Amino acid sequence: MSAVTYELIKECGQSGARLGKIHTPHGSFDTPMFMPVGTLATVKTMSPEELKEMGAGIILSNTYHLWLRPGEDIVEEAGGLHQFMNWDRGILTDSGGFQVFSLSDLRKITEEGVHFRNHLSGEKLFLSPEKSIAIQNALGSDIMMAFDECPPYPAEFDYMKASVERTSRWAERCLHSNKSPDRQALFGIIQGGEYEALRKQSAADLTSLDFPGYAVGGLSVGEPKDVMNRVLEFTTPLLPQNKPRYLMGVGSPDSLIDGVIRGIDMFDCVLPTRIARNGTCMTSTGRLVVRNSKYARDFGPLDEACDCHVCQTYSRAYIRHLVKANETFGFRLTTYHNLYFLIKLMGQVRQAIKEDRLLDFKAAFFEQYGFNKP
Ligand code: GUN
Ligand code: ZN
Repeated sequence: MSAVTYELIKECGQSGARLGKIHTPHGSFDTPMFMPVGTLATVKTMSPEELKEMGAGIILSNTYHLWLRPGEDIVEEAGGLHQFMNWDRGILTDSGGFQVFSLSDLRKITEEGVHFRNHLSGEKLFLSPEKSIAIQNALGSDIMMAFDECPPYPAEFDYMKASVERTSRWAERCLHSNKSPDRQALFGIIQGGEYEALRKQSAADLTSLDFPGYAVGGLSVGEPKDVMNRVLEFTTPLLPQNKPRYLMGVGSPDSLIDGVIRGIDMFDCVLPTRIARNGTCMTSTGRLVVRNSKYARDFGPLDEACDCHVCQTYSRAYIRHLVKANETFGFRLTTYHNLYFLIKLMGQVRQAIKEDRLLDFKAAFFEQYGFNKP
């Protein structure tokens, strides 16, 4: 039995969406769902208690960052990442593949792995499938991700094909080096960019290895929205029905709904927490830039329709003042609200799937959020 299992509860009568439940060694959560990002063993500015209060069932953390600091040996000595950061629900760790490509300079990709320089110190480092899994085993996450290559958009077909083939070989090496498959599930990552033939090849390679879950990687890398939707339309049908499907790096409300409609169960993104720290809030009527002078005397909540603790308690005028004065508390309030907004949105999405009305929900949500405006 795998450490992580997926229970399909119901398919939407109106779309490819599915209602399900994922079971991990640190509890279960309903899907589709959104994972807050806690890169450095903290979801920036939030306490684990606050994350629980808003209903987060699993968070994402990063192999690359925790390897550089404090070092996976220290986390392991603390008793693993859950104990180190006082979080007893699910943790997923990304493999470091994507972060090496997005953060480091002077990369050299070989069959063995990737040589690069530490983005903090300039020190020469090497990450491979075996090394990534050894770090993730030491961290003790419930879901580990395979070490992959995520090429930039757009990439030539021939480059992408060679990359997909290497990522498949790396995935097999990851699978064989997992020392605790009974406690830590390893998910494969489908690559192939915008090319249907390569997504097919990647999905065939990885599904033949029988991972307990699959991610769709290489999206949200600068491609237009319709490209992402098209890729999902031909990729999710290639994945097994009885395993979770995770779309990596996606977190805008419209893309979450569009992903769910195409059969995605899990998402993560820094978007809600990152924009919160420059004073931007997600609301039922679109993005709200609370720094704006028009909110200086606005004593209403960030979002009239939100029942989160922040919206019940604090005003736009107060939050604007804190954010403009660079007060930490202001960033805590915008972060809490944004995460609550996405977690609640996913709850509404699940309810709509239950009632076979997800496309109607999408139309109403997009209309209110302003996505349909020219
Ligand atoms: N995060 C966002 N996209 C990706 C991807 O393609 N691979 C990995 N490992 N992480 C990601
Ligand atoms: Zn709120």
